[in-house]
Amino acid sequence: MRRALELGPGTGVITKAILARGVVPEKLYSVEYTEAFIPQLKSDFPGVHFFHGNAFALDDMLSDLGEQKFDTIVSAIPLLNFPVKQRVELLHSLFDRLNPGRPIVQISYGPNSPIPPDWQTYSVGPFDWMVRNIPPARLWVFRRILAA
Ligand SMILES: C[S@@+](CC[C@H](N)C(=O)[O-])C[C@H]1O[C@@H](n2cnc3c(N)ncnc32)[C@H](O)[C@@H]1O
Repeated sequence: MRRALELGPGTGVITKAILARGVVPEKLYSVEYTEAFIPQLKSDFPGVHFFHGNAFALDDMLSDLGEQKFDTIVSAIPLLNFPVKQRVELLHSLFDRLNPGRPIVQISYGPNSPIPPDWQTYSVGPFDWMVRNIPPARLWVFRRILAA
């Protein structure tokens, strides 16, 4: 059974899409910084594990999972607001929470990858545009390069 982590669910548009892809609510963990969104998210998506907190400080929130990993991470947090070093550190900390080879999908509003490529340790590529989003957003997929 697939387990997913969502960062920055906001009003839940992407939460809904993740569940529509077949992730069962009890296997979806979702971290939102703005506390005011949490009650409505919990009401709209029963069973999903919503946390009020910071995606850059996940350890306490996810401690119940122990060594269990995620199969996918979907993030809508505004990475471009943070220094590049912090973005790269976040990416690596998220890879450590994923099963090997699994993807991190980041939604971003710029024309380029929100985290610079590092072909030695991870791949990055554009996945799709969300043209109906205002402003149009782009999905970027990151995968850790596995040792041969
Ligand atoms: C672009 S919005 C997401 C919009 C969402 N897809 C929706 O349907 O409403 C980004 C969300 O990330 C949240 N966010 C920003 N920084 C965060 C952080 N460090 N940790 C967790 N959530 C964060 C914001 O509060 C906001 O709800």
